[in-house]
Amino acid sequence: MSESLIEVQDNEGIVRLTINRPKALNALNSAVIDALEQVLVELETRADLRAVLITGAGEKSFVAGADIAEMRDKTPQQARDFAAQALRTIKRLETLPVPVVALVNGFCLGGGCELALACDWAVASDNAVFGQPEVLLGVIPGFGGTQRLPRRVGPAMALDLCTTGRKIDAQEALRIGLVNQVLSQDALEEYAQTLTKQLGGNGPGAVRSAKQAIHDGMDQDLDSALALETSLFALSFAGEEQREGMSAFVEKRKPEF
Ligand code: CAA
Repeated sequence: MSESLIEVQDNEGIVRLTINRPKALNALNSAVIDALEQVLVELETRADLRAVLITGAGEKSFVAGADIAEMRDKTPQQARDFAAQALRTIKRLETLPVPVVALVNGFCLGGGCELALACDWAVASDNAVFGQPEVLLGVIPGFGGTQRLPRRVGPAMALDLCTTGRKIDAQEALRIGLVNQVLSQDALEEYAQTLTKQLGGNGPGAVRSAKQAIHDGMDQDLDSALALETSLFALSFAGEEQREGMSAFVEKRKPEF
């Protein structure tokens, strides 16, 4: 049986996805994007989903970009279709109702950086390398980089990266706000385990609402966004979770969500 292009490990609703094409540094070809989309379509239906962690197979690369060999002979229409497929898949990842975290374990270039940008946050190993090197290939980012990168790091830095195509190391990625933390490869694994415990121990409905408030609120003016927060805050008092969380505090015990 052939190995899966997307490995899925499920730890009580904390799902770890590994892009598994290490010989090509996990470059995104149509088959990988298709496989990722199929997994995401299934995850979208899961009420027990608590978080998604996404990483690349091996110790060298998260994702080294869209597959250049596959793209080389594409016509403009085929390139448009390829980008549409990737954008749709990346959007599915971004809009999962739970936290989505990129564990960036090496090269994070082009389409790889664009995938990481769609995650709620990213944590990198100290050997990670970031960049949007498409201009070196005579194209521009096509999986959302020209739009999500300036929203994450500001337009000046996004223009620098997208027009020079220069690569930056993990420390610079940290400094510009592309990643939240830089850790050794071993510590990245420990981070994933700690995060799994943390998110697994929190009220799952509250975690989903926090993501919803931040994502939806960012697209609104402040007053509308604050009203959204109030609605979601009030709604969190309608279920068992709030009662259990607050009772556990008062009774000096751990909550059971
Ligand atoms: N597409 C296809 N294959 C790729 C790839 C990519 N993006 N990146 C690496 N590979 C393949 C290499 O061709 C090589 O395959 P073979 O062993 O069959 O020759 C294998 O992965 C290992 O790569 P290298 O031998 O090049 O490894 P290295 O350590 O010497 O260099 C690297 C690593 C600096 C990441 C280099 O591979 C590289 O520059 N890759 C391309 C990075 C890039 O330009 N990414 C952007 C792609 S365009 C894009 O993503 C457009 C978009 O927005 C949609």
